[in-house]
Amino acid sequence: MRVLSVTSECAPLVKTGGLADVAGALPAALAREGVEMRTILPGYPAIMARLGETKVVLEDAGLFGGPVRALSTQLAGLDLYVVDAPHLYDRPGGIYLRPEGGDWWDNPERFAALSWVAARMAAEGADGWRPHVLHCHDWQGGFAPLYARAMGAGAGSVMTIHNMAFHGPAPADRRGTLRLPGWSWHPDGVEFYGHISALKAGLMYADRITTVSPSYARELMTRDFGMGLDGVMRARRDAVSGILNGIDTDVWNPATDPAIETFEAPTGKAAARAALVEEFGLPQGDGPIAVVISRLTAQKGLDLLLQALPRFAGQGGRVVLLGSGDRGLEDGWRAAAHHLPGVAAHIGYDEAMSHRLIAGGDAVLVPSRFEPCGLTQLYGLRYGAVPVVARTGGLADTVIDANDAALKAGVATGLQFAPVTAEALSAALDRLLELHRDSEIWAQICRNAMAHPVDWGTSAAAYAALYKGIASDT
Ligand code: ADP
Ligand code: GLC
Repeated sequence: MRVLSVTSECAPLVKTGGLADVAGALPAALAREGVEMRTILPGYPAIMARLGETKVVLEDAGLFGGPVRALSTQLAGLDLYVVDAPHLYDRPGGIYLRPEGGDWWDNPERFAALSWVAARMAAEGADGWRPHVLHCHDWQGGFAPLYARAMGAGAGSVMTIHNMAFHGPAPADRRGTLRLPGWSWHPDGVEFYGHISALKAGLMYADRITTVSPSYARELMTRDFGMGLDGVMRARRDAVSGILNGIDTDVWNPATDPAIETFEAPTGKAAARAALVEEFGLPQGDGPIAVVISRLTAQKGLDLLLQALPRFAGQGGRVVLLGSGDRGLEDGWRAAAHHLPGVAAHIGYDEAMSHRLIAGGDAVLVPSRFEPCGLTQLYGLRYGAVPVVARTGGLADTVIDANDAALKAGVATGLQFAPVTAEALSAALDRLLELHRDSEIWAQICRNAMAHPVDWGTSAAAYAALYKGIASDT
């Protein structure tokens, strides 16, 4: 079974969020299921600079304004195809944004090129390798199932939604430039209220739609969460499934993690916690240390946590946040760290620090308004940093709330709260303080958390089964 993963991010090469971790981990996880997955990525400068030996496997003399080549190579343990298209990718700034902020005006074409090349590989093969299935991630891979169909590629296709909030819109008059077939321009095709939507193209033309948790799959069929595409999700209900993300248990392994010196959980957490207290100058005390590692956007609910901080810190709770994003939220967290003893914030992006936080934290907080899956609560489970999460999406599917029944049955792994309001979050933090004071119950919750499976095992098997159901006999 040959599968081509079509993605705009892939750890450890290029990452802005959890999509990169998932795309980076899938090939190894699927290899264990007998699936040969290769990955196609845009040739961003950071990737081009790291290329060693490559082979040109496909060429296009003129694609969206310039020549394009697909290069095959191996990098960071991945079998890669890199789309070399300097006119689209050789730019300063982030992978989606201009250095001065805001999307590149031609983002639709930049990622349509990725999808076009992937579709051609499915149609023609490249250097003798032709995928049975295209596995497309988020709007950046959304046109691939449509292009593949237009080319008569015959390959099966899976569209995975990591975040329905991003549609990849383009003005209607770009449909010629984007090489969208005329038959796709209608409300049951790529049209979304008079615009082109790359994500909708994927949802309409892929054989199967997945998202990264069963709860988010259900939520996406509702108005509150569907971001205008809930009708499409309902119409395609039979093609939709939710497959939970796993984490890379080698990268996130408390026994071997190079970011921390000693870790014998749950009691041995003491050393990592003490290191955290020192690193962030936190007050000494018996109260729990709760950590946050997150993009700072409205999705993540960290404005609600700001509101809940004074009460939590007033009762001996301590909080360390690592994150970056919205200016307003960055400023809010800087101010909270300045004014409230027991609150620290590092505004920035720092992988090693994220490991130290998860290792030293007693709890990890994820108060998201919506969360397709979420990864930091999974890291928390593995390292005995008890997750306190909003009851939504993948958060609801991965954490067992410490309610009375779960405590009696001895199965609780964390805390859930709903609705996603500052009041409900505050109440959850009160519960956290109370549970943490009872060392016996707390130790049991930590043990349960650490025993909860967070690897890719069952989910990789679920993807493999899905591919089998739609693979072409290429
Ligand atoms: P999302 O993809 O919506 O951002 P996830 O929880 O799925 O949310 O994935 C976020 C990933 O990015 C995790 O691996 C998390 O550790 C990492 N991350 C987010 N912000 C930072 C940061 N400031 N420093 C280091 N890692 C971060
Ligand atoms: C998205 C979601 C997050 C998910 C990640 C990987 O960015 O916001 O919940 O874990 O993709 O699937």
